[in-house]
Order: sequence, then structure tokens, then C-alpha cells
Amino acid sequence: MRNPIIVALDVPTSDRALALAGQLAPVVGAFKIGKELFTSAGPEMVRRIRATGAAVFLDLKFHDIPNTVARAVAAAVRLDAQMLTIHTSGGLAMMQAAEEAAQKAAAEAGREAPLVLGVTVLTSLDSQALMEVGMEPNVGRQVERLASLAARAGLRGLVCSPLEVAGLRQFLPSRMQFVTPGIRTGREKADDQKRTLTPREAIEAGASWLVIGRPICAAENPRAAAEAILASLA
Ligand code: C5P
Repeated sequence: MRNPIIVALDVPTSDRALALAGQLAPVVGAFKIGKELFTSAGPEMVRRIRATGAAVFLDLKFHDIPNTVARAVAAAVRLDAQMLTIHTSGGLAMMQAAEEAAQKAAAEAGREAPLVLGVTVLTSLDSQALMEVGMEPNVGRQVERLASLAARAGLRGLVCSPLEVAGLRQFLPSRMQFVTPGIRTGREKADDQKRTLTPREAIEAGASWLVIGRPICAAENPRAAAEAILASLA
């Protein structure tokens, strides 16, 4: 089995990120670079993480007009990101443009197309917040609606809560890959993640990839923490 652990490098500086990547690269599958690290350390960060041999998940959640998103996706492919995110609420045409750009830019670069992942409803939004922006206030229904639209657009993956995977798998094509944050082993102290599963539970629920930040990065020994999680999946 390929290594499903994606470590969220939620750190502000390239030094911190590279130190973590150096020790963790042999025992994890990929590193997630988000808005904080990308904005402070730039595309060079992606190149340097790729140089460790690990895959890169560029989590910039693109949401714009189709042409702009397509161009940003093509730029991410040229940077050699293996996974990237877009907002499904950007609409069908935007998602189609993103997937097409990923395929085309990858063919031009002679590499495999990255997994373009759709983000449905941010977990920070509740029913009231959805209503305020004029969306379907039933969070579950809105997630299903956007997930179906993502499948129609040809996306091959979604980011969602580990608790949503089983339900979504029932009506989405079997090729769909699910990337799930909200993973806790039970050993770390409580933080802002409220609805969590353990790594093993998430995989058993049908997750393809696990995004794990603090349970690894904030551990006393990040390498040992990652190794323990990997062993728990064997
Ligand atoms: O430290 P922790 O394991 O909670 O990190 C989870 C990562 O996944 C963070 O980068 C967080 O922004 C991201 N994420 C999340 N919940 C979502 C979407 C993304 O925790 N619904």
C-alpha cells in the first residue's frame, strides 16, 4: 500500500518546514503546503520539498473565473505539485477548466496529472453561515450537492471530513479519492478539531489520504509520531 500520510506543514518559515520535511520525508507520503507557508516562502518552497523526494500537495484552494484558475493550475503543474485544491463553489465550468488544465499541462511537461481536489463546504461554516451567503442551509445537503457537481466536472478527488466519506462514497463514482483532515490519534491534547477519527478509522471509512498536522508536527518527536501512525495502519 502506498503511504497515505500527508503532513500539513502549517509553519510560518521555510527553515521550520524544511527541518520537518527532512526528518519526515522517508516515513510519509506527501507534504501539504498551505496559504501561510506559500505566501511567506513562495514557489521555491515547493521545489525544495520536492527535492526531498516527497510529493507536494499545494493547498491554495483556488476560486476565481475559469481562465484564471486554469492558468494557476497549469502553473502548479509546472512547479511539479502532485495534488492541489480548488473550491467546488467556483462552479462547474471552473472545475472543468481546472481539470482540463491539469491534464494538458501535465502532458506538456511529460508527467502524470496532479490530483485536483475539490473543497466542498468549509468546516468553519455552519447552517447559519451558509444562509448568510445565500446557500442551501443544510450543510450535509450542500456538501452532497457540491460533491456531485465536482464528479460531473470530472474531478478525481475531494477534500472532506473523515465522517463524510462513507456517505459520499455511496453515490459518487468509485474512482473518487478522498483526502481527509480532522485526524487525531487520541494521544495529543485537545485543540480546535471537534469531529475527528483516528488514522485507522479514517482509512477504514474509505479515506484515500490523511492530512495530519499537529499530531505529527507538534509532537515531541515528529518522526516517531509519524512512524507510530504508519504502524497503526499496517
Ligand atoms: O493540525 P491539524 O491536523 O488539525 O491540521 C489539519 C490541516 O488540515 C490544517 O492544514 C487545516 O487547515 C486543514 N483542514 C482542516 N479541516 C478542513 C479543511 C482543511 O483541518 N475542513
